[in-house]
Amino acid sequence: MNIVLGITGGIAAYKTPELVRRLRGRGADVQIVMTASAEEFVTATALQAVSGRPVRSNLWDQKAEAAMGHIELARWADVVLIAPATAEIMARLAGGAAPDLLTTLCLATEAKIAIAPAMNHVMWSNPAVQSNRELLEERGIMILGPEHGSQACGETGAGRMLEPDDIAAAVCAADLGGNATAGLLAGRTVLVTAGPTREPIDPVRYITNRSSGKMGYAMARAAAAQGARVVLISGPVNLEDPHGVEVHRVETAEQMHVETHRNISEVDIFIGAAAVSDYRPTETAPQKIKKQEETMTLKLIRSEDILASVARLDHAPFTVGFAAETENVRDYARGKLEDKRLDMIVANRVGDDCGFDHDDNTVDVLWPNGEKAFPMTAKSELAHTLIELIAERFESMRGDDTQPELSVISARD
Ligand SMILES: Cc1cc2nc3c(=O)[nH]c(=O)nc-3n(C[C@H](O)[C@H](O)[C@H](O)COP(=O)(O)O)c2cc1C
Repeated sequence: MNIVLGITGGIAAYKTPELVRRLRGRGADVQIVMTASAEEFVTATALQAVSGRPVRSNLWDQKAEAAMGHIELARWADVVLIAPATAEIMARLAGGAAPDLLTTLCLATEAKIAIAPAMNHVMWSNPAVQSNRELLEERGIMILGPEHGSQACGETGAGRMLEPDDIAAAVCAADLGGNATAGLLAGRTVLVTAGPTREPIDPVRYITNRSSGKMGYAMARAAAAQGARVVLISGPVNLEDPHGVEVHRVETAEQMHVETHRNISEVDIFIGAAAVSDYRPTETAPQKIKKQEETMTLKLIRSEDILASVARLDHAPFTVGFAAETENVRDYARGKLEDKRLDMIVANRVGDDCGFDHDDNTVDVLWPNGEKAFPMTAKSELAHTLIELIAERFESMRGDDTQPELSVISARD
């Protein structure tokens, strides 16, 4: 897909090198067109390096016009994506103005146009901006986001640009004229569990763990970016819902178990990234437990093992577990892989300096007859690499399943 990426002068422009990488990762060719204001936020040098093409910004650049004029650029594009889209560009588009290269080619193109607005929440709710949004939507321009959350100005509200992954996934989807079959997991359903669980002791106390849900959410995003339908069953976390992902919220291990099995029948790949409590109190006190003796004993009972219960199903999906360990990480992980009969396990060491609630992670991935180590990487980046590996293993197992019976036995056992 040929994408003209228009970058305008919003603070979120700093995320665009990442967006270019995400679009190219899905096989798109990306030609960047920047406004003059955008150049205040991100350099053409960085964008040229990640896009592999000279950046265009000036309508009056004779050399660039001679190479690919603005009309040719408008014809070349399958999609014109503007991210971030300022209030100003929305007004120019709504008014049909063409004072610069980006707006001129928007008028001259027959390609689909999508914009990812990003601005302060008060600006976004301004009636002028909202009426421009409505007009652009009526004319068939696709509006991606914005989402609600903390903003660069220090306030919270609706106006944050969608994450690069979410934009890339939406742009490559069918209704934008892109190719719905694009992505390693197109046509597949992936179920991800994420976050911790909370096991109530009484109405005000619970047992939980340090999981932030970041890795599971990153996996859900990465699977959606590869074209999968993604269902995310999440314990209590402080994270935005990933765009285009069906999110089901639960609290306890038991609820997560029930919700997982309620959704499992259509699932091709199950990724158990949640840190599910192994034990829960045998009883939940109906009223707050009062301070009494010097010591007190809580009686706990084992929770259902969600991962093993999915892997045991007659028509089990390709099942991937996550193992967080503080020591002997690979040995414990190999043990879990075999005991629970998983197709793959992602093992990471957790401690004060790594794992839970950190943005980076380093993992070992193990499967029945192989393994691979991944160095310290941002969780979002790592998730993409893991999803690629999962898709590859899933396809190779499906290939094995279509071979004669003997191969099936050797592949699974
Ligand atoms: C530091 C700074 C940050 C800005 N961030 C935004 C923003 O996030 N969204 C927005 O609509 N305008 C923002 N603006 C205002 C735009 O840059 C301004 O309206 C400009 O004329 C947009 O031009 P363009 O749409 O041609 O890029 C910001 C301005 C400054 C100085």
